Amino acid sequence: MAKQEDVFKTIVAHAKEYGFVFQSSEIYDGLSAVYDYGQNGVELKNNIKRYWWEAMTMLHDNIVGIDSAIFMHPTIWKASGHVDAFNDPLIDNKDSKKRYRADVLIEDEIAKFDEKINKEVAKAAKRFGESFDEEMFRKTNPRVMEHIAKRDELHRRYSEAMNANDLAALKQVILDYEIVDPISGTRNWTDVRQFNLMFKTEMGSTADGAMEVYLRPETAQGIFVNYLNVQKTGRMRIPFGIAQIGKAFRNEIVARQFIFRMREFEQMEMQFFVRPGEELKWFDSWRQTRMRWHKALGLGDEKYRFHDHEKLAHYANAATDIEFQMPFGFKEVEGIHSRTNFDLSQHEKFSGKKIQYFDQEIGESYVPYVIETSIGVDRMFLSVLCSCYEAQNLENGESRVVLHFPAPIAPVKCAVLPLVKKDGLPEKAREIQHRLRFDMTCQYDEKDSIGKRYRRQDAIGTPYCVTVDHQTLEDNTVTLRERDSMEQRRVSIDELEKILIENVSLNSLLKKLL
Ligand code: GAP
Repeated sequence: MAKQEDVFKTIVAHAKEYGFVFQSSEIYDGLSAVYDYGQNGVELKNNIKRYWWEAMTMLHDNIVGIDSAIFMHPTIWKASGHVDAFNDPLIDNKDSKKRYRADVLIEDEIAKFDEKINKEVAKAAKRFGESFDEEMFRKTNPRVMEHIAKRDELHRRYSEAMNANDLAALKQVILDYEIVDPISGTRNWTDVRQFNLMFKTEMGSTADGAMEVYLRPETAQGIFVNYLNVQKTGRMRIPFGIAQIGKAFRNEIVARQFIFRMREFEQMEMQFFVRPGEELKWFDSWRQTRMRWHKALGLGDEKYRFHDHEKLAHYANAATDIEFQMPFGFKEVEGIHSRTNFDLSQHEKFSGKKIQYFDQEIGESYVPYVIETSIGVDRMFLSVLCSCYEAQNLENGESRVVLHFPAPIAPVKCAVLPLVKKDGLPEKAREIQHRLRFDMTCQYDEKDSIGKRYRRQDAIGTPYCVTVDHQTLEDNTVTLRERDSMEQRRVSIDELEKILIENVSLNSLLKKLL
């Protein structure tokens, strides 16, 4: 079986070869952790965004959207805590001159212990066969027990240092466990320092006295500072939500795993404003609603899990992640947070403006509490891409690469293919394509054999191919080929439109959420 690492490399290469994702500025040797979406990638990304946007704003009477600016008044980031606390612990190796996240170096070391343990278990499983009792082996094998004890001790010291924000203790862990720089192989480390992740730039000319501004590290603050505007102009009554999709920027020190951790990325965030004391009820409700949204895509229920946070930010009273099984393990795709009234209260304090809601039902004014749902578009894209990719060996001895995208979010919904490039078939195929393209992305392709054209469409995840042949000219029927089963059936052109719309429209997906 191919190693997961190799599978991931193959998926990344496929994403480039078929116009999904390119390295940014590639002809200038690229820009680290910044990516561009190609002709197929942008369609998939837009469909994911549309699925989220419509699920939020069209299926909920009490959620509206906004689009706030990326540049915001710098005091907003002071109020939100990002200027003082949006940091990663950073360490440099004096020999390689490379910079690392201290927490990532330690987490990698913990992973090495896990790898050793898993290797011992796999070896024993092979040796003992059917009679192997893994639980017992883990509890009694001296070598495994030793690795587990070392791993747990390392984890304990690491968690304590992180929770106490103790940078000296973090460095001591790195020294005690003899963690070396993967490049220089040495232990010649600097002290650990805090590194703020926000990008800064200047607004206005220096002669006028330029103002230092930040590129937003999250879209959420644009919602908080527009709370009053939307509540008043939209005559919104609590509970209600504000949704936004937009770019966010973080100067990530360790950027890896392709589009999983980027310096410029996109978020889809929704802040749901509720009555104080009702936040945990709403937290629970959004936790379920968001999981339903993910699972409705049909990528496999077993690929999702919740990871409830034990350690909470000082302003939060509940938080969970929705994790997805990527080729490199279960990873966070979405965060759901009960943020109390922290952000609105901070903006009230720093701006001097009253941010209150008069609740007529109970005759009281208060600063609303907030449940936040926050999902990364790029991570969602990666989870869809990875779980839909399959290299298949077919019964006839051939092979194909197929992307099993759920039809409503596939970049191209349908391809119309004339069997041959003559006898009026191209004209008929064009006529069908022109009819379909009002309702869906529909390609026309006449180059190469029909088999090769099917493979090309499989590789970009097109759910349906329509083949036009000589019989079409006689009886107005075409062959409809389904991507996953590769089954072909004859349908009339009038029927075709109905079948396709029913299967590829976003409505079919949205209806599963009700
Ligand atoms: N407003 C809350 C917030 O921003 P977060 O957990 O820092 O919370 C939310 O980010 C989501 O944004 C994550 O679950 C992830 O999907 C995405 N995200 C965060 N940092 C990212 C990065 N560097 N690259 C890609 N996606 C990222």
